[in-house]
Amino acid sequence: MTDKPRIILDCDPGIDDAFAIVTASRWAEIIAVTTVSGNVSLDKTTANALRLRSLIGSDFPVHAGAHKPLEVAPLSAGHVHGDCGLGGIDLPYSSESPDSNNAIEFLVEETRKEEGLHLVPIGPLTNIALALQADPDMAKRVSSITFMGGSAGGLGNVTAAAEFNIYADPEAAQVVLQSGSPVSMVGLNLTHQVQVGTKETEICHSIDTPVGSAMAYLLDFYADFYRSHLGTDTGSMHDPCAVLAITHPELFAFEEKYVAVEVNGQHTRGMTLVDERGVGSEFEPNCRVAYNVNAQEAVALIMQAVAEV
Ligand code: RIB
Ligand code: CA
Repeated sequence: MTDKPRIILDCDPGIDDAFAIVTASRWAEIIAVTTVSGNVSLDKTTANALRLRSLIGSDFPVHAGAHKPLEVAPLSAGHVHGDCGLGGIDLPYSSESPDSNNAIEFLVEETRKEEGLHLVPIGPLTNIALALQADPDMAKRVSSITFMGGSAGGLGNVTAAAEFNIYADPEAAQVVLQSGSPVSMVGLNLTHQVQVGTKETEICHSIDTPVGSAMAYLLDFYADFYRSHLGTDTGSMHDPCAVLAITHPELFAFEEKYVAVEVNGQHTRGMTLVDERGVGSEFEPNCRVAYNVNAQEAVALIMQAVAEV
């Protein structure tokens, strides 16, 4: 057994999810991938997880989870990731089916079988919330629930106040943050520090492997989005940051804070409100919030993973 952190990656591939899977394959021990409806529908996120597993030549189990959020209809980010979720990439669909269609039962049972796993959700938190509702004691069995989502400082990308993963299922995020689990939030305030652009696309193009070519394609597709929709020359590499927060914690600065999820606000539904008052707050901290990262090193580790996985 290696000394790499052992993780379950809960994802909605998704271009940056693909980079998170590659990053986790290189720097962590992936016990399993669980899929959730998010960027695109569950059938597509699951198919993409299987396609990516084949691409990197891995054998981690894939368990499909929730096809919709706890209370609302599924959202989509097809305008970012393409209708298929991976930018229309020419990557064969795996003939294999997921190892199960019950990621929730898998999460409960696997964390009973092995305590100390890190759950790394990088899509809406629906699967994690359902697992915690099925077995609240899961909160005590995991080393962390380190999620990409939300933001300190009120940053949003789907609305002025809300980040996609939380906005897609705020009720699920509320369940997770109120569960007593060891939760860490890697939000937009952090991931906006980790930018990729032409340089990283060229690095991936220079990596003469199927993974290098595939990741270069995905970065090219992502560039079309941020150039046309955001008017920027680079884009945030969100999801791998949650993986690196576990595999390379020395690159990150976290602070213990109380975080609440707004589920009712007309303008703020899906916002993660971080209580910055410190000793003046009447709330006990419930979350480690990521504030800073050595972004240059983070990007280098993601590129190294593309080259070496
Ligand atoms: O807001 C960024 C997050 O939403 C990332 O996880 C991306 O994959 C999308 O799911
Ligand atoms: Ca994602």
